[in-house]
Formats: sequence, C-alpha cells, structure tokens
Amino acid sequence: MSWQPSSWYAVALSRKLGAKPQRVMIDGRAFAIFRSGDALHCLTDRCPHRFAPLSLGKVVGDTIECPYHGWRFDGGGHCRAVPGLLEPVPNVAVPSHPVREQNGLIYVSPGDPRGEPYAGVLSGRDTVSTLVENRVRSTLVDVAENILDATHTHFTHSGILRGLSSRRYRIKVTVTGGDGWVEARYEGEPKQEGIISRLLEGERSISVGRFIAPGIAELEFWGRDRINLSTTFHLHQEDDEHVSGFGVLAGPLQGGLGYLKAVLFKPFFDIALRQDRSILNIARANKLPDSKPVVGRLDVLRPHIEAILRGERPAVADVPVEVMMEL
Ligand code: FES
Ligand SMILES: [Fe+2]
Repeated sequence: MSWQPSSWYAVALSRKLGAKPQRVMIDGRAFAIFRSGDALHCLTDRCPHRFAPLSLGKVVGDTIECPYHGWRFDGGGHCRAVPGLLEPVPNVAVPSHPVREQNGLIYVSPGDPRGEPYAGVLSGRDTVSTLVENRVRSTLVDVAENILDATHTHFTHSGILRGLSSRRYRIKVTVTGGDGWVEARYEGEPKQEGIISRLLEGERSISVGRFIAPGIAELEFWGRDRINLSTTFHLHQEDDEHVSGFGVLAGPLQGGLGYLKAVLFKPFFDIALRQDRSILNIARANKLPDSKPVVGRLDVLRPHIEAILRGERPAVADVPVEVMMEL
C-alpha cells in the first residue's frame, strides 16, 4: 500500500482548481480541496452531520457549505454556521489537512508531513517544466514500474521513445538504494533514435530511473555533464482500481530553447502516456484475480519497489546489484 499519512501527495493541477471545491482520493480516503480568496484548504470530504461529501457543496466566503443542510466549515474544519439555528453553532469540526501549492501542483498530506513536497531532481529558476496528468486502471507498483522500465520501450513506444530499428546496445545497469528509495543507473547507452530523444537530448551518457516512497517515479537523462531532461511522476493509488499521476517534465533553461523544447516535447509525451495507459489497462483487465507476475532478471526495480511499498528496506540498499543487458 502506498498509504503513508506523513507524506505529501500530489492530487491536482493548480489550474484545474477554480471556484468549485474538488474531491481527491488517496488510498480510498476522500478529501475536499477548495480555494477561498488566496487561501487553499483541504478537509476530510465528509460532513460530520449526515456525512454528505463537502466537495459537492460550494465555497461561501471563507467557508465550504455542505450540500445537504448547509452547515458551513472554515479552512480549519470548524463549523461556522448552521442555517436556521437560533443558538450558538455547535462545537463540531471536520478534520483539516496540510495542503501546498507548488510549481503548478496541489499537494495534500493526510497526516503530519515531514518537510515540503518533493519538487523533482530538476527544479528551480534555471529549469523549464511542463505538466501532464494521467489516470490509469492499475496498481501503484505496476505504474511506477512501467514508468521506470527500460525494456518495454522497444515495443510499447516503438518510434516515439525508440527508433523504428530494433537495434540494441549492451549496457550496464547498477541498482542501488536506501530507506524508502531505489534507483537503476544505465550506462553505455548511446543516444536513442526515437523522436523524443532527438528533440530533447544532446549526447546521452547515463540515464537513471528512481523510485522514492510513497509514489515518486523519476527518470533522469544525462548529457556530458548535466541532466538534459527529467520526468518526475507523483503517483498515488486513488482506490483499489485507479492510480493517479502528475508528471513534471523538466529541462535546463537554455536561453529560451528549453521552453520551446518543453512545448514541442509535450505532444509526444502525451502519446507515450496514452500508449502506456492502454497497455496497463489491457494487462490489468486480462489478469486473473490472484495470479502473481513473473519477475525476471531484467525487471531490476520491481522487487525493490514492492519491498519499499511494504515498508521494508530494499535489499540493494546493502548490496548493490549489477546487471548487463541489451537495451
Ligand atoms: S449532512 Fe452536511 S449539513 Fe447535514
Ligand atoms: Fe512507457
């Protein structure tokens, strides 16, 4: 399970949250996020009166109004008004939760978060970035693995991430990790021939795929001495069936060129996401209820992502693993 209450979860695109409240789900739990003026709030999406979802109500002043009997709650979750009541409002509250808005994303923490939301390996002033949103019928481990999996690109993304040739190169993969994270480092790969690689990357030397608990799946593509492109996906399980993801594609700002590249890149990235979504949905629908996947030698990250999601330290944290493969 990805439920880690003291973590931050990216739950929405900033630009999609307007005057209306919005419901977001994290591991089957519902939260209502809403804006009042410049402030942003997150409450448990359940009115304490008769349990109607507050997210179906509306924002009135600095409160959210329940759609059922109109009780109003402020950003701290305290009841401020009970329509028709002639006495003081009862001392009831709905739980409120920390919320942040950063780089175009809204983050929520169900509990007491440690630190600030993870912004990605490339962030800050010298970086350009663009955002994508994705929702898949799948599980967190399958989606995280899919994003980080170098072996499916020949097939799922032929021509987009890879060239049309089936040429492969011998590369070395080093898998390391620590508490709550694992990464695979790919060395010896020449520049790939797919459209995205041609558009964005200079000379490629190393690429890295990384998972960080509870749901960051991040790729780095290195040029000679810096990261040319990174994609940071914030994933979480919404309910048993769906995984939501917000991806930040980032690159260094190269005198305006970076921005242009980011814009050009987005449509191809959207195609790649659609291809992934399609195969994940189909595979999910084709799975028998209790069949276990075969984890092969080339599935370098899967067992470690699973261990991290079980709250264990991945084995490679103590003994790094090296695998040679043709990619
Ligand atoms: S259920 Fe919310 S006001 Fe009654
Ligand atoms: Fe993919």
